[in-house]
Amino acid sequence: MSETNKGFPKDFLWGASSSAAQVEGGFDQGGRGLSIWDVKTLNPNTASFHYASDFYSHYKEDIALMAEMGFKAYRFSISWSRILPEGEGEVSQAGIQFYRNVLDELHKYNIEPVVTIYHFDLPLALQEKYGGWINRQMIDAYVNYCRILFKNYPEVKYWLTYNEQNMLTFFGAFDMLGSGNPKSNNDLYNEAHVGLVAQAKAIHLCHELLPDAWIGPAPNLTTSYPASADPKDYIAAQNMDDLRNNFYTDALVFGRYPQSVYAYFEMNDVVLDVHEDDFEIMRTCKPDFIGFNCYGNDTTEHLDYYELDFSDVDMSDNTNKSYLMKLMEKPGVGKSVVNPYFAENSVDGNRYDPYAIRVTARRLTERYHLPVLLTENGYGRPDTLTEDGQIHDDYRIEHLRETIKQMKIGIEEGAQLIGYCPWSAMDLVSTREGISKRYGFIYVDRDEDDVKAQTAEMKRYRKDSFHWYKKVIASNGEILD
Ligand code: BG6
Repeated sequence: MSETNKGFPKDFLWGASSSAAQVEGGFDQGGRGLSIWDVKTLNPNTASFHYASDFYSHYKEDIALMAEMGFKAYRFSISWSRILPEGEGEVSQAGIQFYRNVLDELHKYNIEPVVTIYHFDLPLALQEKYGGWINRQMIDAYVNYCRILFKNYPEVKYWLTYNEQNMLTFFGAFDMLGSGNPKSNNDLYNEAHVGLVAQAKAIHLCHELLPDAWIGPAPNLTTSYPASADPKDYIAAQNMDDLRNNFYTDALVFGRYPQSVYAYFEMNDVVLDVHEDDFEIMRTCKPDFIGFNCYGNDTTEHLDYYELDFSDVDMSDNTNKSYLMKLMEKPGVGKSVVNPYFAENSVDGNRYDPYAIRVTARRLTERYHLPVLLTENGYGRPDTLTEDGQIHDDYRIEHLRETIKQMKIGIEEGAQLIGYCPWSAMDLVSTREGISKRYGFIYVDRDEDDVKAQTAEMKRYRKDSFHWYKKVIASNGEILD
């Protein structure tokens, strides 16, 4: 092993992540237009995204806390409908100014912004006008939005095109964003294709306007472990990787989809509407790095083809585990099963996969020969604020510590990992489980009650993990106790 491969690189991007809809609040302030998340059907007793963690008013305090932890980077997303209230057309100067303020504040502390252009919160106006990503007019709408961002924020070095596009497809049969209408596989994969052409065009545009910037996608990438040594499980794991992961990154790096996915398309009557230049645009766009969210790798068991039946799944509350398990069944490919080898958290007994990032960062480096940036990983739990203002989240510290230990070995083995931005900097509203499922280093004092949230102070507290992460960053990942 060469000396240069020992430990974390000097300029490793330690930080954390968030998304506009999940932290900002201020849904009706500064002329912001509505997004599909403002009107989405919520699970019972969960906070809406209207007030979230009120980063809109607390951004200075939050960024100061990030600086106190020693963050080198902060990954956040821009709300499309704050910049373009109607999704296209007139630009909101108040929206542009808000992110200018955020960027200036980050700059003050030398924190590198990692900007996600689009993180689930499609402007409602575009959903209504075009019906969402199924419509190829979304390509121009998205590229127009990107152009506005590139022109207004030329100092941003790291851009991420689209958060977890693959999850919107993979879990999209019931639309995890709450429309309640199951989508056909044909629609889902055609949406995916349109989204990929749009991203490829945005990558071209970024390179043209900002030659020094880096731009890449940010899917949720895992690596499938075969459930057993049965060759059928091994093949299922390979095919699952193609379907769930490689489809999205191969498109943008190689300009093609993995061959095994076409067999899945045939079984599921998927016919892609591919236009003449689509693959050429993708083949030539050349992302500079791959951002990836990774909460744990999958374990896959072979499944013969059968017609999926969702009739026994309760769609009114998608926090139900059976809902997610059903969406992870891909007949003809495989299904996700419990992995008995995963670690057991010694504090709360939950199982997790500390090897996930090590394995996947290695796999991505080998497949794409590009740097990789971890854009999400984390441990969502209902933390408790003690009377004297403390949060003892040892379960989170254990999860992060064991993950970072493995990441370090992964780098020594050759993974070209350039940064770690776990989810999340501060507590925020989960996609499906409200604010009680907390991920942050910074505790935000509010509960699920939206009425109270409108006037709540939303005081910030430092969790135990805050103090711990500060030491990790200061020692460049050497001190993990
Ligand atoms: C990722 C998303 O899927 O996981 C985030 O990019 C999300 O937006 C995070 O919040 C955690 O998932 P959840 O469902 O617990 O919020």
